[in-house]
Amino acid sequence: MPQLSTEILAADGPGFARATELLRQGALVAFPTETVYGLGADARQGQAVAAIYEAKGRPSFNPLIAHVHSAEAAQRYVRWNDAAERLAQAFWPGPLTLVLPLRDGHGISPLVTAGLETLGLRVPAHPAGQALLQALDGPVAAPSANPSGRISPTTAAHVAGGLGGRIAAILDDGACGVGLESTIIGLAGPEPMLLRPGGLAAEEIEAVLGRKLVMRNVHDPLTAPGQLLSHYAPGASVRLNASAAAPGELYLGFGPMGNAQTCDLNLSETGDLAEAAANLFGHLHRLDALGQPIAVAPIPDHGLGAAINDRLRRAAAPRD
Ligand code: TXA
Ligand code: MG
Repeated sequence: MPQLSTEILAADGPGFARATELLRQGALVAFPTETVYGLGADARQGQAVAAIYEAKGRPSFNPLIAHVHSAEAAQRYVRWNDAAERLAQAFWPGPLTLVLPLRDGHGISPLVTAGLETLGLRVPAHPAGQALLQALDGPVAAPSANPSGRISPTTAAHVAGGLGGRIAAILDDGACGVGLESTIIGLAGPEPMLLRPGGLAAEEIEAVLGRKLVMRNVHDPLTAPGQLLSHYAPGASVRLNASAAAPGELYLGFGPMGNAQTCDLNLSETGDLAEAAANLFGHLHRLDALGQPIAVAPIPDHGLGAAINDRLRRAAAPRD
């Protein structure tokens, strides 16, 4: 990827204005939250979200947390419920992420949710993170701002050390107070579930809900039925590395198509992997809705292609 000169922005009026401008343009801006620094992109822009994976060198697409400035803003994107209201009242802004069902017309890129029908939302308390989200007044997808497999950053210097030259800017406002990622609670199922322990103690959450949380650590292997939270697979069968569709198949293309070739949808006509990543889940959903087997063109296995291929292999894996 091209080398950028990463801007270091101060947490003041001009800094927030520049960070907001960059996010609107689809660029990546790291910003402080009270847990860790997040690597932010406008959650409505698929190519911007794809760039997060590229910058981090993440080999697979996991769902990302969308950051918003308030519980009111969160309700633009998800179907709210009583447990969400109680937890938001008690702990937002703060180190708590709530996973809720997406609502119609949400506008969030499917690359943020990795094709799931649910969205993780967080309202951070850090003043600089808050000011940025208020200035943008839009959802910011952000994993921790470190290269994949490295330690989460709690200072702007950590971010610069790991991602300098790979992202547009870092909003610098000192060290993060909590230093541990947010606690994630799933509220999309029949009972509230602890999906990841983090900066807010589970006991505090149980006290507000008046009940025990069901435990499921996100790092546990996803084996039991109903736990396949992050494995979006189409209903139709998927065939990979197909140079063309067989009779009865739909073809998901990649790159320029020769005259003799046709495809039903193309991940990127120019062969751009960031564009392909941004289109991946949306295109699979659209083809799946047609109810026929899907054949997928070969995708180069470098850069974002590795994550695309990882997700396609899961979509194509045998299942019950
Ligand atoms: O403190 C934090 O949470 C930091 C700061 C930047 O906010 N963010 C963070 O993001 O830790 P990330 O991408 O490293 O972790 C996101 C976690 C993943 O483990 C993912 O599986 C889970 O959240 N997650 C997100 N959306 C989900 C969903 N719809 N269903 C289940 N899990 C979800
Ligand atoms: Mg992380």
